[in-house]
Amino acid sequence: MAESKNIILTGIRPTGALHIGHLVGALSSNVEIQNKGDYSRMYGMIADAQGLTDNFDKPEKVHENVMEVVLDMLAVGYDPNKTVMFIQSEVSELTELTFYYMNLVTVARLQRNPTVKTEISQKEKFNGGIPVGFFTYPISQAADITAFDANIIPVGEDQLPMIEQAAEIVHKFNSIYGETLVTPHAIVPKSEAAARLPGTDGNAKMSKSLNNCIYLKDSADEIAAKVKTMFTDPNHLRIEDPGNTTENPVFIYLSVFAKPEHFAAFLPEYSNYEELAAHYERGGLGDVKVKKFLNSVLQETLEPIRERRELFARDPDAVMEVLRVGTEQARAAAAETVSRVKRAMKLNYFD
Ligand code: TRP
Repeated sequence: MAESKNIILTGIRPTGALHIGHLVGALSSNVEIQNKGDYSRMYGMIADAQGLTDNFDKPEKVHENVMEVVLDMLAVGYDPNKTVMFIQSEVSELTELTFYYMNLVTVARLQRNPTVKTEISQKEKFNGGIPVGFFTYPISQAADITAFDANIIPVGEDQLPMIEQAAEIVHKFNSIYGETLVTPHAIVPKSEAAARLPGTDGNAKMSKSLNNCIYLKDSADEIAAKVKTMFTDPNHLRIEDPGNTTENPVFIYLSVFAKPEHFAAFLPEYSNYEELAAHYERGGLGDVKVKKFLNSVLQETLEPIRERRELFARDPDAVMEVLRVGTEQARAAAAETVSRVKRAMKLNYFD
């Protein structure tokens, strides 16, 4: 088999423990990509500096969540022998690249970035005005990507404008200073894995502040309690009533997590999701029964992840060592890019 030339980079902001939305939206597919092995190098970056761009007044929050997030990553199968796991702020070359790329981006272009636009419009977030660091984070993200010559960037839909803007910066840089940087391409996990999981309360988004998440580190009891109080179809009052499955988080979760093995083990009257959903829609199937099944499915799915997490959590020094080694590798690669960039920009006085 020919050596793959792909360099893959994934990034996660450490601003909270990861939940099952992250698992289906990104983590599972990242691990699948990692284990397929079609790359010369794969990076898993913990984007703490980016996390600070909208949490600059909460340094403890970002600091503490670096450990939470690395434990979550290891628990779901990130393997430090395959993925270079590192901390963004420890690679100072990234801020250096950001400064140079700032010359290549206009204020108007940043204002048009749909992701930045949406985040800025969530006004309560920035009642003291928009920090320049936040406003320019797409530029810093271009640095994260290009520093490692990454050509494949697995992301969720919401991040597509970021990768597009990074590619623009690459083209502009290369056209002014000569072929230097690698153009990144986004890949978005397909099908059901890409489904955005709603919160347990039926809100479209799972978010810590809404208190509607099921975390990868939740205990069996916490999972059971959360499933028990989940929002379902408010019009499904009596068991005989026809029910709605499409706006019902219990069914949305089942459509993502319930495999035929789960039906065979816990609910053998049905052989798959479609049969169960059809019965609920017809009427005659109660929420309690469906929730009990969802609980079994989630317990089965999350138990091995939680156990691995607990194992790693017992040795935090070893976990930090994983990040230290990864960060050193990342720094070496980024330093090589910075000298290439500076040479291209004629900032190489002492060569
Ligand atoms: N912005 C990404 C997120 O919020 C995290 C991130 C930072 C990232 N730098 C990156 C993702 C570089 C991909 C490539 O999820």
